[in-house]
Amino acid sequence: MGEGTKAYYEGFEDYGVLYDTGFWRQYRREAGRLLAAALPARTGLRVLDLGGGALLSLRELHADPRVSEYVVVDLVVKLPAGLPKVAATQSDILSYLRAYSGPPFDAVIIFGVLEYLKPADAEEVLRLVPGCLSPEGRVLVHEPNARAAAYMTRGQGEQRTVELESLLSGSGLALIERRDYHLPRVRAVCAKLGLRSPALLRMGLALERLLGGGADSLYLLKRDSV
Ligand SMILES: C[S@@+](CC[C@H](N)C(=O)[O-])C[C@H]1O[C@@H](n2cnc3c(N)ncnc32)[C@H](O)[C@@H]1O
Repeated sequence: MGEGTKAYYEGFEDYGVLYDTGFWRQYRREAGRLLAAALPARTGLRVLDLGGGALLSLRELHADPRVSEYVVVDLVVKLPAGLPKVAATQSDILSYLRAYSGPPFDAVIIFGVLEYLKPADAEEVLRLVPGCLSPEGRVLVHEPNARAAAYMTRGQGEQRTVELESLLSGSGLALIERRDYHLPRVRAVCAKLGLRSPALLRMGLALERLLGGGADSLYLLKRDSV
């Protein structure tokens, strides 16, 4: 991430107000459910949240009783101190992954981070992830896809759209499932109707999936050698 993007996030006190409410909150829940359902039933699971320093990317997964360790790596860490299970490291994710030699993780989360990296760096992140993933481990990625380009806000950052499938070849990761969400029209109608409750937002997201063609994609991945 360039200095411009870093400065953007350092000044972004209200990140959670924008991205941890309404449809985004429900989208995170959906992402958490998708990943949780794909993980082994045993306890003692280790989770790596790459770029989870503004807020924990998948709070429900952090609260999952099977998870014993939740490691966050981010250039900017603004999490409250003393969160149970959480160990946060202030670092560039590439440097962290290149140097990692600890025990494997059962889950890796990359939620809205590749869009800030140069494509070559994003590809390297994906190539390095299998090296720190257990054989039955799973990866959950969220990125704005190419359809988001029309209404992507750029701020001072270097955000770009990501079509993950094109980065996976040769990475050692294979796609299990892709889900597209966030149709602006569905969101606008729900906002007009004043939909706020999780159950109704969930219905809204289900409708988005049914209609297809959303601008934000969730990808569930596994190691392709196992
Ligand atoms: C859009 S935010 C996503 C935050 C969080 N994952 C979420 O669920 O909302 C992007 C995050 O990636 C971090 N980030 C971007 N590039 C990074 C890099 N090269 N190394 C570590 N963190 C990075 C930023 O500091 C920021 O916290």
